[in-house]
Amino acid sequence: MPLGTTTWRKRNEDKLLRLLSVAKQYNITNPSIIHIGPGGAVGFMLKLLPPGQKSNWSITQKVKRCILKAMETTFRHTGLFELECAELLDLLYSLEELKPSKIYVFDKEDKVIRAATKLSNQHGIKIPVNGTILNIEKNGITNQGDIVVAYNVMNRAKDKVSCLKNIQSAVKQGGILSINHVINAKNFVKIEEGL
Ligand SMILES: C[S@@+](CC[C@H](N)C(=O)[O-])C[C@H]1O[C@@H](n2cnc3c(N)ncnc32)[C@H](O)[C@@H]1O
Repeated sequence: MPLGTTTWRKRNEDKLLRLLSVAKQYNITNPSIIHIGPGGAVGFMLKLLPPGQKSNWSITQKVKRCILKAMETTFRHTGLFELECAELLDLLYSLEELKPSKIYVFDKEDKVIRAATKLSNQHGIKIPVNGTILNIEKNGITNQGDIVVAYNVMNRAKDKVSCLKNIQSAVKQGGILSINHVINAKNFVKIEEGL
């Protein structure tokens, strides 16, 4: 099935930098990272889409993005083009300092998983990237990570409670969960906005 939504470079960079700072505060090193729903976009279009947060874009960038996004969506829906995972690359670069031991990527779309696992070859990344097709709304993850990242995944879930429960269960005791939804999380000692 073609991926229905798009992403772009550095979309969640602010959250990743905040995550890095909190992980350093808690002396987390060599973490295993679980990245849920990294998303993807048609590779050659990704370079053209303006990076960063929407709120920082100029009017020209917003207009440019509108046109390019429509083109990217059309290309992506044909299913003929390979996708690239900008967010996984952003995550790898932002958290490099922590020297992650392994990254486990989960997404319900096979094209996203394919893009995630080939990324290390393309960019010479040394950290092993393991990809699994999984619907986090329906199934939990069998392993747990020191850091779990899931941005813009829960928005469209029909069963948000089950989705969040499965995401939360993927966090090791003493680990960090970074999502961009206001949640009422049980068993977490500290909940901060912006993380
Ligand atoms: C809106 S995109 C967000 C991409 C990126 N995280 C971002 O913030 O730009 C949602 C991503 O989560 C995946 N996704 C959505 N629902 C999911 C589910 N129930 N289980 C697993 N992956 C899911 C989609 O396939 C897609 O890759």
